[in-house]
Amino acid sequence: MRLENKVVLVSGGASGIGAETARRVVREGGKAVVADRDENKGRALAEELGESAAFAPLDVVDEAAWQNAVATAVETYGGLHGLLNAAGIGVRNSIEDCSLEEYRRVNDINSMGTFLGCKTAIPAMTKSGGGSIVNISSVLGLRGASYAMAYCASKGAVRSLTKSVAMHCAQMKYGIRCNSVHPGYIDTPMIAPRLEGTIDNMTGRQWLESLHPLGRLGRAEEVADMVLFLLSDESTFSTGSEFVCDGGLTA
Ligand SMILES: NC(=O)c1ccc[n+]([C@@H]2O[C@H](COP(=O)([O-])OP(=O)(O)OC[C@H]3O[C@@H](n4cnc5c(N)ncnc54)[C@H](O)[C@@H]3O)[C@@H](O)[C@H]2O)c1
Repeated sequence: MRLENKVVLVSGGASGIGAETARRVVREGGKAVVADRDENKGRALAEELGESAAFAPLDVVDEAAWQNAVATAVETYGGLHGLLNAAGIGVRNSIEDCSLEEYRRVNDINSMGTFLGCKTAIPAMTKSGGGSIVNISSVLGLRGASYAMAYCASKGAVRSLTKSVAMHCAQMKYGIRCNSVHPGYIDTPMIAPRLEGTIDNMTGRQWLESLHPLGRLGRAEEVADMVLFLLSDESTFSTGSEFVCDGGLTA
């Protein structure tokens, strides 16, 4: 019961890393608000998890929708102690083939969505006595990739936004920690299109696997385990830090 009595709002909670985290939050005695723009999958997961989970419709670029999602947590479960910003999109482009519109779309969802989540949740978390914010960045927030320029820019922004939020909350003595998580390639619906095709005489899956010294893709559960540690009181001296979960990719 590592999250007993803790209420956690999960953006991107309908799928992949967010959904696995919501499952773990409930299994560890907490309450999860599954927030996502995919209403069908989000509601189905909340129903599967029972009374300890609720669904809130959320497009992370919409500030009013964030306020409703935070209100759902407070009104349903009496407070807010954790926020996981997991909603995100992966788009392939280089500096030469990315349009301004596409650059804005990727950065709005991945970076601005994380900003809005932190900004909206902090007052409710402060009122609830503090807590923990976890922002999902990527190994591509630590390094560049010619084929994922806009994504790298958005995830680099999440990394440094996280540190600034952490320092502000520490200075204000809100009792709120904020850390970023940097996964390698994780076998979720986001990367499904990349598993097809052929690269360097390998299938897409084999090529992605070969990037990781451990020789395989990660699983959403493995990232959720790291997130759970950061949401729990096992990590009370960690804030403003980068937690890498990448099968050795960046090593
Ligand atoms: N899968 C990977 O290899 C990988 C690697 C590094 C980082 N990440 C990051 O992990 C996070 C979770 O990704 P995942 O792999 O679980 O993918 P996923 O596609 O399984 O889940 C992403 C979820 O975000 C939701 N979402 C997308 N845009 C949204 C929006 N505007 N508003 C609300 N919800 C929105 C989707 O509906 C979906 O439920 C993302 O931020 C992603 O960039 C993934």
